[in-house]
Amino acid sequence: MGVKTIEDVDVAGKRVLIRADLNVPLTADGDVADTPQADRIRIAAEAVRGVTQRGGRAIVVSHLGRPAGRGAESGLTLAPCAKRLGELLGAEVGFAADCVGSEAESRASALGDGEALVLENLRFHREEQANDPGFAKALAGLADVYCNEAFPTVFRRHASLVGVPEAMGEAPRVVGPRLKKELEQLADLYETPAEPFVAVAGGLETADRFRALQRLLPAIDVLLTGGGLAHVLMSAAGRSVGESPIERSAVERGRELLAEADRHETRLFLPEDHVVGRDMSSETETDVVEEQIGRGWRGLDIGPQTVNRYSSFVRGADTVFWSGPMGAFETEPFEVGTREIASAVAERVELGAQSYVAGGHTGMAVHKLELGEHVGHISSGRDASLKYLAGDAFEGLDLLERN
Ligand code: 3PG
Repeated sequence: MGVKTIEDVDVAGKRVLIRADLNVPLTADGDVADTPQADRIRIAAEAVRGVTQRGGRAIVVSHLGRPAGRGAESGLTLAPCAKRLGELLGAEVGFAADCVGSEAESRASALGDGEALVLENLRFHREEQANDPGFAKALAGLADVYCNEAFPTVFRRHASLVGVPEAMGEAPRVVGPRLKKELEQLADLYETPAEPFVAVAGGLETADRFRALQRLLPAIDVLLTGGGLAHVLMSAAGRSVGESPIERSAVERGRELLAEADRHETRLFLPEDHVVGRDMSSETETDVVEEQIGRGWRGLDIGPQTVNRYSSFVRGADTVFWSGPMGAFETEPFEVGTREIASAVAERVELGAQSYVAGGHTGMAVHKLELGEHVGHISSGRDASLKYLAGDAFEGLDLLERN
């Protein structure tokens, strides 16, 4: 049974509160920065269009950054996002300087059919993160329909995600088109992965990634590791990682993952060679070493033999799950491993394989390599996708209607 979507609701003449995720980097001049995250505004624009084109009235709410929750902070205003939203829609988009109170109420009730309005950053009120019932009720009172289109934030227990759909009672409470797609892609990956299923895991932040991999392990045939995650596993396996930064607290989890992979007969690979450097700068002295990383060196990319082996596994996969770059891809010459994996995924997707890229740095890397259109589904929320795959419950989603 799927979650109902906004397309299932007759929105004509109705005010629809769209909880979007407009948490995007801004420039020092207060414009939307040109980063892959800016795509979140396009996602919100699609949801708004789906309402306004059918004669509905869209009221967009979101957080931006992590303000103190004690009133407005000029560097974290949603005004630039509202402006960009208007440009994408090719229409006037209103903006209210607070998300609750008299201005929000009067602007929301003055909205005409087919019009859109953005309300100021929810987190300027500490009540948002506290899931305060009074604050949730005030937001819920602005609209007739609730639509969650905030996949990257969907795991948070905040007022706009939990308290508002609760407070909306019998009103329609649904998801937007992108959130629906994110859930479908996750279900395909978790429930029906075609074999061979090859997972590629790297990156520095490992806690949720380990949990997600552990839950997926029974289905994974081959697990290829690189980057910070491989360094944790190397440490857990008693191999030296030199000066590579690792989360010490993750080593025990690494041991568990190695043991679980053994138990499920998943073929788990650690890099057989590494590109190492003295530091992360592109001018640093580098070397290629096998197996262990010696003192005074950091692992900055997977080595050429590992690139070959990993790429050939990816080229044989019918399902690919990729979370975490293979090295310090932001700095030349350490982007090679990540680039070669991205190219192998793109080739395989071209031939019909299913691929899920868990967003975050991996998403940024494939965009930087200009392969963003070719590597299958790139999730708009790394943390949300990993937590979902790890089996976490999302209270906000459980409150929405099903069909
Ligand atoms: C994100 O960018 O990961 C989401 O918008 C969530 O932001 P948060 O971690 O500040 O809740």
